[in-house]
Amino acid sequence: MSVIEAAYIARTPKSAAMGPRAQKVMPAGDTRAAGFHTPYPLTIASATGVTLTDIDGNEYLDLSNNFTSLLHGHAYQPIVDAVSRVIGTGTAWPARNNTQVELAELICERVPSIDLVRFCNSGSEANMLALHVARTHTGRHKVLMARFGYHGSHEAFEAGYFGNTGDKAWPHTIIAPWGDADAFETELEKHGDEIAAVFLEAAMGASGLVQASPEFFQRVIDATHRAGAVFVLDEVITLRLSTGGHQVNLGINPDLTTLGKIIGGGYPVGAVGGRADLMSLLDPTRGRIFHSGTFNGNPVTTAAGVVSFNHLTSDAVTRMGAQAERLERSLAESAAGVGLPFSCRRVGSLLNVYFSDVLPAASLAREDAETMRLVHLAGMNRGLYFASRGLLVLSTVMSDENLAEMCSRFDAVFADVAAEISS
Ligand SMILES: Cc1ncc(COP(=O)(O)O)c(C=O)c1O
Repeated sequence: MSVIEAAYIARTPKSAAMGPRAQKVMPAGDTRAAGFHTPYPLTIASATGVTLTDIDGNEYLDLSNNFTSLLHGHAYQPIVDAVSRVIGTGTAWPARNNTQVELAELICERVPSIDLVRFCNSGSEANMLALHVARTHTGRHKVLMARFGYHGSHEAFEAGYFGNTGDKAWPHTIIAPWGDADAFETELEKHGDEIAAVFLEAAMGASGLVQASPEFFQRVIDATHRAGAVFVLDEVITLRLSTGGHQVNLGINPDLTTLGKIIGGGYPVGAVGGRADLMSLLDPTRGRIFHSGTFNGNPVTTAAGVVSFNHLTSDAVTRMGAQAERLERSLAESAAGVGLPFSCRRVGSLLNVYFSDVLPAASLAREDAETMRLVHLAGMNRGLYFASRGLLVLSTVMSDENLAEMCSRFDAVFADVAAEISS
């Protein structure tokens, strides 16, 4: 066992003890694959602002922000206030509420391609609903998506993420390489009359923040329309990249957009929005889809969501982007200082780090997996929390002092890892 892993185990005895207890009642003692890692994940006790605290009392500066859902960090006071006001008035109601309408108005106003919106409870559910709309509209079944694209937990999309082979194979999913417009055009020419929808992330979040050009998106959109299919842009992670989503930066106009994470202010949420004719399929007075959900647009989530989205100002987008740029530069200098290979992809306030000299293509398997694992554990040992795949996520409440402290902790982390590797 490495010195780094031994130190992690030594400082987290209560989290370790929670493992066997949790394993008796949940597979691997966990309920979320993305947050799982060996030897065992932490058990979190509380969090506020930029700081997470585990059940052993260790504190971490948080650069995961719950995989991007916490745009304003933990227990952001304006959201706590909005939610507290609503909680005192009830729980979840069987009909429309004020903040639900307010959040829908905000989304339609800000995201240019969205005429109408429907709420659900997760990004996965939003993508399933968008696929349902596209299938109903076209009368077709298949979905075309990028290899390694991530659209949540559902067989149709997991087949693309994992490669549509073996036990992940799914008959209705076709995959093409991310960024390769020729390949998407070819699939749409070959299978166009069977394809209901083409799904793309606005930037690949789960596969390393790989971006694609506006021209790629536009060619795929045009080919999708030539085939009579529906183009769905997944903005579950990327909505934060401008006040109206990354589609504004890219200059594209999807038929449907799927949303999640920040539009719930940190509470469970998902939404599909888009062209009025497509969204009208969900209208019970004339639509063909019975879409319901006990918690859709519930008052707690939507009250939090209104604050969260309203506080995503263009100043906040610019400031987080500038901080992320400084973080990237500092990490590169720290890595170079101890001879660790390093590369990084950054889009706005999101970064993905690699411990290789050359940026890898989108993929699940990483050549630098062992170094990444050491950096992740050493990060926690030094009081930094981030996703084990090297995704770093900024929030609006991170001060320049917080940033300086994070950079100095990373400096120590890289030195720990370089020492471990050389021994
Ligand atoms: C691009 C993208 N789409 C969909 C999802 C699924 O969202 P949820 O985890 O809320 O189901 C995620 C989650 O990380 C995502 O990154």
